[in-house]
Amino acid sequence: MSQLSTKHLLGIKDLKADDLRLILSTAQKFKEIINRPIKKVPTLRDITVANLFFENSTRTRVSFELAQKRLSADVVNFSASASSVKKGETLLDTVNNILAMKVDMVVMRHPSPGAPHFLAKHINANIINAGDGTHEHPTQALLDAFSIEERIGNLEGKKVLIVGDIMHSRVALSNIFCLKKLGAEVKLCGPPTLIPKDIESLGISVELNIQKALQWCDVANVLRIQLERQQTKYFPSLREYANFYGVNMERLNKLEKEILILHPGPINRGVEITSDVADSSQSIILDQVENGVAIRMAVLFLLANRTID
Ligand code: CP
Repeated sequence: MSQLSTKHLLGIKDLKADDLRLILSTAQKFKEIINRPIKKVPTLRDITVANLFFENSTRTRVSFELAQKRLSADVVNFSASASSVKKGETLLDTVNNILAMKVDMVVMRHPSPGAPHFLAKHINANIINAGDGTHEHPTQALLDAFSIEERIGNLEGKKVLIVGDIMHSRVALSNIFCLKKLGAEVKLCGPPTLIPKDIESLGISVELNIQKALQWCDVANVLRIQLERQQTKYFPSLREYANFYGVNMERLNKLEKEILILHPGPINRGVEITSDVADSSQSIILDQVENGVAIRMAVLFLLANRTID
């Protein structure tokens, strides 16, 4: 298989395991390229990409822009807070006006779940979902899978724990789909109020005791508590959250093995993860950020229907 089965990257749910494997193997080639003294290739010099960010971002936005520039694409950046969206323009009008300037691909982050799916039904350009509300964040799940396999090999049969605010996390949902399709076992841990009912129907399990959950896994992906998305109090205080569910060195030192630690960022140090864990040799948080560029290069390259011989 040398091409994706889809025109857009809206979510991991829509992808086949072969699509995931193609993106991961293509990213491996791009990782080699971006570690050369000359990090740039001319592959997408005929392509223009618009990055439309209707919600804040550091990692995803910079990573997509670098990926586009490393592939020699033309790039335009759009931030909702400085645009005519503030004057009442609709999403579809905004995007159609940008596309009228001959844009081929749209990377979009939006607070509403399904916004990129809506766009994909109404416009011709390739759409890449850079995070839609609490729904999916497909390139994050792909870079997480790539980073795990880089350290401990093929995900088939590996045990991956996702800890934290599952309810509000697009990273959790995309990771569950991605890890399951790649053959990993997935367990969730967090306050019962932050674990959606019936989540086990996705073929995963839940363990409410953090120490038992950490003992079970090979890899723990620690999620941020998303206070900005919480309309109500799901736990008494951040201090109590850290005491019951925080990943700290005391908990890791009690394990009979060394596990790998991931975090998608941004980190709330001292809440879901302590600094000594985040900055330890077990943590691959900055590898995740580095690998994000290679993954996004692979996605852009494949959606543009380019192939590597
Ligand atoms: N991981 C992630 O999506 O980070 P940003 O919100 O900074 O893009």
